[in-house]
Amino acid sequence: MAEQAVQPLVYATYPDLRDKRVVITGGGTGIGSELVTAFAGQGARVWFLDIADEASHKLADALSGSAHAPQYRRCDLTDLNALAAAFAAIDQEAGGIDVLLNNAANDDRHEIDDVTPAYYENRMAVNLRHQFFCAQAAVRMMRKQGGGVILNFGSISWHLASSQLSLYMTAKAAIEGLSRGMARDLGADNIRVNAVIPGAVRTPRQQALWHTPEEEARILSGQCLRERVEMQDVAALTLFLASDNARRCSGREYFVDAGWYGA
Ligand SMILES: NC(=O)c1ccc[n+]([C@@H]2O[C@H](COP(=O)([O-])OP(=O)(O)OC[C@H]3O[C@@H](n4cnc5c(N)ncnc54)[C@H](O)[C@@H]3O)[C@@H](O)[C@H]2O)c1
Repeated sequence: MAEQAVQPLVYATYPDLRDKRVVITGGGTGIGSELVTAFAGQGARVWFLDIADEASHKLADALSGSAHAPQYRRCDLTDLNALAAAFAAIDQEAGGIDVLLNNAANDDRHEIDDVTPAYYENRMAVNLRHQFFCAQAAVRMMRKQGGGVILNFGSISWHLASSQLSLYMTAKAAIEGLSRGMARDLGADNIRVNAVIPGAVRTPRQQALWHTPEEEARILSGQCLRERVEMQDVAALTLFLASDNARRCSGREYFVDAGWYGA
């Protein structure tokens, strides 16, 4: 099947995002790399954490001419000591964090019969645990400065009951509960917490691993809109939610899925 031509998207400009200190997990590839690009384009100061060194360095190089060149920091987010050290180093360098985008994840497929206790723990570490501890580290800085924004990336998958993803979906369902709980506890500190819920987004990894004409047709027939969701569509929603335009948005889930109710 021929690839669809992607309509170019021009991001809105949010003046309050200029010079904001933004930390993006999993910013080296996929949706995260578009988030890095979009926030750098707003004039924000971006730090991104990842383990994909080659892609991350390449991205940082490509964006080095931005108003503030995005900074790549290698950090395996399943290692909580490394995570704490990365946030401490950013705090020292930036003097705080205004926006945290908890984006890193891994949606490897798995069969229920093959799951061992170690694999279960690993999937929770890759997809859920770091969101809490990154938020905890960021919140300590945000409280001191009088506020901030945390956006946790969930997934449409568990809303649709997708197959071969039960652990990923367990983590992604929990992220919506985590987001609501944090929004309640942190509202008095002027910290907004929301969940961003992407649908089937056309990323290099998705296209390389799971793209078939049948899958493309299944997605399009399940969506209200008959166009694929692009990484830019996720970044556009994220820019809005991170900006002051969304100042009364907290404790909710925001879908960017072309209205995908399954097929
Ligand atoms: N692509 C989709 O269709 C889709 C759909 C629903 C939800 N999402 C969510 O959107 C977010 C981004 O998805 P994506 O498709 O761009 O993912 P991706 O797999 O393409 O990229 C994830 C990034 O996270 C990094 N990462 C993974 N494990 C890490 C670790 N232990 N430490 C540091 N970095 C690590 C990877 O290196 C990679 O750069 C995820 O939260 C995902 O669950 C994506």
